[in-house]
Amino acid sequence: MPRFSRFILVLGSLAALHLLSLNGCVHEPFFPEPLDPNPTDTIPTDTTPVDTTPVDTTPVVCAPDTLYFLQDIFPLMEKHHCAACHTPEKNVAGVSFNSYENILNSNVIDLENPEQSRMYESIIEDDPDKVMPPDPYDPMQPYEIDMIRLWIVQGARNNSCDQSIACDTTDLTYTSRIKPLLEANCTGCHTAGNNPGGGIDLSTYASVAVVARSGQLYGSVARHEGYEPMPKGLDPLSDCDIYRIKAWVSQDYPE
Ligand code: HEC
Ligand code: HEC
Repeated sequence: MPRFSRFILVLGSLAALHLLSLNGCVHEPFFPEPLDPNPTDTIPTDTTPVDTTPVDTTPVVCAPDTLYFLQDIFPLMEKHHCAACHTPEKNVAGVSFNSYENILNSNVIDLENPEQSRMYESIIEDDPDKVMPPDPYDPMQPYEIDMIRLWIVQGARNNSCDQSIACDTTDLTYTSRIKPLLEANCTGCHTAGNNPGGGIDLSTYASVAVVARSGQLYGSVARHEGYEPMPKGLDPLSDCDIYRIKAWVSQDYPE
């Protein structure tokens, strides 16, 4: 067969495959393709029908504005005991939160309308009898809710990264690492009594904890949509500083 018509044939079968897969999904919410265990980019969905590229085993350095399933999201599921009730065996409400695969198979992610994902709606629910996790489990903090929202917005990928090769995140407390970082970059505009930007004081642990908990501290330095990019009018912080802020907030901002 001439090369050209072989090419057409390949294109044709790819198109047929694509149609088939579209057809199979007509009544189903959209789910991503099986995911690359070593993602190297931050593009949300891979639309290539068949990925034949060899698996890249180079560790992926954490991008500070990206939410990683393994490092950021799964630990939240564990911390809030989602799998105490939601496993395939217990099958409460027909949803499972004990692995990435089971989360995807539970129909709780809507990539086209991230904020209508049942996984997200269940944690922002107003009704105290319906909000997840239920009493007596610790409620999710606003920053945790926002991390889940951002992970879904970024494609709800089964992604993972290796921070150790890029940034030292040991000894992460307010006093040791965060206070000096804020004093070098932020308190010039954010000190109480000095008409602080946005009314936000970043000069004491107590006032910094408020914006850490709300999600604003990480959201503004990572420059996520919906937040004012900080430091205002200046270059972003270094990747390592942004990652430290994210990690410190994720550890519930120790003093
Ligand atoms: C103590 C048991 C328990 C824990 C822990 C728990 N859930 Fe649930 N979950 C339930 C029950 C019971 C329902 C059914 C509630 C209803 O239908 O009103 C439910 C329903 C859900 C639903 C389906 C809501 C819908 O749209 O129908 C989702 C999604 C969910 N939970 C997510 C979570 C997440 C995420 C966590 C962890 C942050 C969690 N759950 C922790 C018991 C639990
Ligand atoms: C040049 C002055 C300036 C610097 C430097 C600055 N900020 Fe701001 N910041 C502001 C102003 C002004 C606002 C109010 C919102 C606006 O006008 O953009 C603000 C708002 C904020 C908010 C609320 C944003 C939101 O969308 O909720 C946070 C959080 C914040 N700053 C954190 C920081 C952090 C962290 C740093 C250092 C990394 C920093 N700021 C550096 C001026 C500054």
